[in-house]
Amino acid sequence: MTDEVSRNERIKEASNYLRGTLAEGLAEEITGSIVEDDQQLVKFHGMYLQDDRDLRSERTRKKMEKAFSFMIRVRISGGVLSPAQWLALDEIARVYGNGTMKLTTRQTVQLHGIIKSNLKATMKSIDDVLLNSIAACGDVNRNVMSNPNPDQSRAHAAALDLARILSDHLTPRTPAYREIWLDGERIAGGEDEVIEPIYGKTYLPRKFKIVLAVPPSNDVDIFAHDLGFIAILDAAGEVTGWNVTVGGGMGMNHGEPDTYPRTADLMGFCETRDAVAIAEAVVTVQRDWGDRTNRKHARLKYTIEDRGLDFFRAEVVRRSGVLLQPAKPFKFTSTGDRYGWSEGDNGRAHLTLFVQNGRLFDRPGAMQMSALRRIAQSHDGDFRITPNQHLIIANIPTEKQKEIHWIAVASGLLAPWSGLRRNSMVCVALPTCGLALAESERYLPDLVTALDERLAAHGLAADDIVIRMTGCPNGCARPYLAEIGLVGKGPGRYNLYLGAAFDGSRLSKLYAEDLAHDGIVAALDPMFAAYAAERQKGERFGDFAIRAGFVAATGNGRDFHANTGAQRGTAR
Ligand code: HEM
Ligand code: SF4
Repeated sequence: MTDEVSRNERIKEASNYLRGTLAEGLAEEITGSIVEDDQQLVKFHGMYLQDDRDLRSERTRKKMEKAFSFMIRVRISGGVLSPAQWLALDEIARVYGNGTMKLTTRQTVQLHGIIKSNLKATMKSIDDVLLNSIAACGDVNRNVMSNPNPDQSRAHAAALDLARILSDHLTPRTPAYREIWLDGERIAGGEDEVIEPIYGKTYLPRKFKIVLAVPPSNDVDIFAHDLGFIAILDAAGEVTGWNVTVGGGMGMNHGEPDTYPRTADLMGFCETRDAVAIAEAVVTVQRDWGDRTNRKHARLKYTIEDRGLDFFRAEVVRRSGVLLQPAKPFKFTSTGDRYGWSEGDNGRAHLTLFVQNGRLFDRPGAMQMSALRRIAQSHDGDFRITPNQHLIIANIPTEKQKEIHWIAVASGLLAPWSGLRRNSMVCVALPTCGLALAESERYLPDLVTALDERLAAHGLAADDIVIRMTGCPNGCARPYLAEIGLVGKGPGRYNLYLGAAFDGSRLSKLYAEDLAHDGIVAALDPMFAAYAAERQKGERFGDFAIRAGFVAATGNGRDFHANTGAQRGTAR
């Protein structure tokens, strides 16, 4: 490690508040790509340059450039969209994208396959329905998530309100976004403080993620995020304030034990009126203390590991002027979604749909995009993306319930019976993600089918067990918080992690490395058998894996890489 700032820091600094040469690069018709430095900057505008990896070798053979296109990630605080916004994204996906919509693990929509010449038209369509994609990727505060559970609508409303306020407060102020994408007038640059009062010229050392949870649901996976607010409710269900969590994060690298996932620490309790000041202070301490020399060590989780929580808290208190109180008691029960119909406080109903892999598309027998379009065209409630990549049609009046129910049935959007599939989550991986080492989205459904057969043989078919897979150790689908976590190691090979807590509070532990399909099934089958035979009443699979001695429990941070490997059982 050197003291020199990383290359990305120089790119940010020289970018004139995220402009770089993006405008020129867009106009360049000879290539579907953009220059390297701009590839970093475009992330701050909510996009990734990608190429279809399935086509790479064929195109190289034909001496063609890679099949470049862009992925756009929309910024949707709390995952709430109006029907008009839903329809606009659906149209973009069909007209400019690859005909699919990807509901993400952080409550947004990703649109894949947009070629450079369609980018500006796409961004205009997004702007037309009052959405944007600024800071959906990049070294800034990303999409703010909040619990979408309409069952608790007053607490939910409070969480969503705060999510939107935090999101607005921490959105970059640079006019570059309007200038480049929406032909906004160019505004001359000035002092740092004026243009980016919170971020300055070089923004944050690394990405930053905020979530809000309303217990008992931990669907947002609060402990996986840099900054979290847990609603503390009084007996009447009103929010009295928030427990603040800091320093969670998932990403790591294979074979580099200095990198590790980490569950966030509880830092204290604050009232709603102080939440913005606390958030801003956490962000600015990380801006100033975060490691800008090494991007693999730049997340807030490492700042807190290195400096200590007490020291960090003291600085947040000093900067915010808010005296944090001791954290209050709360209880989470699960990270999953509650599928099916539920009644809200306001007499309207809500329907939580199951979207396998978060990927919506039309196929024979399951015309899901078309079905949701029909619902959006005749419905005045909202669409809420869950943190588990699913979708809630919210606020449905009684007279519409039957119709919407049957549309969902006909398009295969009701939750499946299998307890494993209901609790499965994947990242995108191949063919679009440039970092993928193995398949994820295109493989997990088949693996679940194979595992379901084993679970059924042991009488466990309907048991809720959380399984998550990613194509690389960055952990976009939070695999280290799944009871069964699979992380791509190379083509067709995965590391298997076990022993995370069902409520999202404890990380898993590496059980076996480099397993192919048969090896995964063979490793898990005897564990399922043991679970069926030996579990205590109400005991979750992740807890059982530890009590039964299959893996050691993970405490926190650096402990993730200690005592790995099968403690019991035969992993091949
Ligand atoms: C350190 C490393 C990370 C890098 C470099 C990274 C990079 C990427 C890339 C390139 C994609 C686009 C894949 C595609 O659409 O083709 C992606 C998707 C995504 N990432 Fe990450 N990621 C990282 C960690 C995380 C973590 C820890 C989370 C969440 C806690 C996360 C959340 C997401 C989400 C929500 C998506 C959208 C797709 C989905 O739901 O699967 N990322 N990431
Ligand atoms: S976990 Fe890795 S493979 Fe999957 S989307 Fe994230 S970066 Fe890509």
